[in-house]
Formats: sequence, C-alpha cells, structure tokens
Amino acid sequence: MAISIKNEHDIAQMRVACRLASEVLDYITPFVVAGVTTGEIDRLCHEYMTNVQGTVPAPLNYQPPGYPPYPKAICTSINDVICHGIPGDKALKNGDTLNIDVTVIKDGYFGDTSRMFIVGEGSILAKRLVQTTYECMWLGIDQVRPGGHLGDIGHAIQRYAEAQGYSVVREYCGHGIGTVFHDEPQVLHYGRPGTGAELLPGMIFTIEPMINAGRREIRTMPDQWTVKTKDRSLSAQWEHTVLVTETGYEVLTVSAGTPAKPAIVAQSAQTAGAPA
Ligand code: MF3
Ligand code: CO
Ligand code: CO
Repeated sequence: MAISIKNEHDIAQMRVACRLASEVLDYITPFVVAGVTTGEIDRLCHEYMTNVQGTVPAPLNYQPPGYPPYPKAICTSINDVICHGIPGDKALKNGDTLNIDVTVIKDGYFGDTSRMFIVGEGSILAKRLVQTTYECMWLGIDQVRPGGHLGDIGHAIQRYAEAQGYSVVREYCGHGIGTVFHDEPQVLHYGRPGTGAELLPGMIFTIEPMINAGRREIRTMPDQWTVKTKDRSLSAQWEHTVLVTETGYEVLTVSAGTPAKPAIVAQSAQTAGAPA
C-alpha cells in the first residue's frame, strides 16, 4: 500500500490540528507538579480540548484490533512505563519522569505529539535519558528530506541512543497520520541508511522514539495497554508530527511552549518551520 501524499488543503488542516495538540501540552505544563494525579492531568487536558479548543481526544475509546477500548483522553507514562500509560489516581512524586502524549482531532485531522516532564528534582540519569531521547527525536527529524529514506531516520536514532549506552524499543514506531490516527508508513526508530520507503514531499508522519536506560525488552500490563520495560529501567519518549517539504522538513506540532531544537542539530540547514 502506498504512503499518502497530502495536498495543500490537507497540510493547512494538519498545521492547525498539530498546533492544537502542542498547545494542550503548553496548557498542562504548569500542572505537572508533585502531588497531582495523572487522572487530574487527564481531566484538565480533556476539558481544555473539549471546552476551549473544540477538539476531540483521539485516544478516548480508541480500539485497534486485539485491544480493549482505551479509556482516557491522553497517555501518561511514568518512569519505567514506555508508552500508553493510562491516567489514574496515582500522584506524581519528586523525581518522577512523565511522558504526556496528546492526540487531538480537529475537523477530521489528527495532530500527535508528546513531551517529557521531570517532576521537581530529577536524578542525573533521568535528566540524561530525557535529554538524550530528545536529541534522538531531533536527529531523526533532521534526516527528513525528499529522496531520503525511512531507514535514515531509524539509523540516526539508533546509532546515537546506543552510543550513549541506551536501547531502542522495537515494538512501537512512528506512523503516517492525517485523517487517520495510525497510517502507513511505520517509522521504525532503528535501521539502516538508504533502506525503507523513499521520502516524498507531502508525506506526513510522526517520529516518536522510545529509549530505555537499560535493555530494550518490554512487558505489557494486564490492562492490555500499559507497556513497561521488562528490566524496570527508566524509559523516555518524545514525539513530533513532521511534514516532508520540497527542501527538507517542517515540524507541524509547534506552539509557543515547544522546546527549542537541541544544539546537536541546531546548525542544520533543513530548518523550515522548525523552532529556532
Ligand atoms: N499517541 C500515541 C501515538 O503516538 C497513541 C496512543 S493510542 C492510545 O501513536 F490509545 F493509547 F491512546
Ligand atoms: Co504517534
Ligand atoms: Co502520540
């Protein structure tokens, strides 16, 4: 099956949906403090989407084949949770690492982005893993250009993560996105340069590496959603939705609170639409 090429109308709609997803993260940031529960974070995000933005939370009742319906509006993945953590009554505590993953639907278009938060004072390891994972995402984004290949993205991420002594989760990947949540292509966060589909202007997909401080193996909890590291090591993830342009890439999930590009890619020539 072919990877869809978005037209100018689709791209304009995706810019809006993706900015709104990022703005949910801006909105929730001041609430991410010790003592707050992930259920409260979910409730606040859900209210903001519904009442302020007029967006629909894509995760709520989302049910891929073989899964139960996802019960909440966002994903909140703490410490050794790799992804798809379900918000609940657990309170955040000093030193926790938290990924908040937001996907909104606006006028039928999906915007998908996540950021890491460290509650209070993080350990040296936590800070280093979160920063390295951010750099991994951006090294992947920086590979995006017409004529490039999906494997270029995965390779850049894997090489950097493994050089730091970390591992790349294999079971989950980035994905095409537009008027469907999870579309072709699968964007692996490991691989070999020059392999995989060729990138063409108008493709839109996410890059969302999950990096473990320890081994890459996963275990899925009985709720059938929550995915943790098998060795209980810390895991981190960042996610942007990215458009392939005529000259390189445009990061679509940008808003006032989007963190800056890391120094490791800041001098790149392919910066259209990317935050400074
Ligand atoms: N937002 C996630 C992603 O990046 C998917 C979450 S699916 C859910 O693809 F059902 F767990 F919310
Ligand atoms: Co995604
Ligand atoms: Co996501």
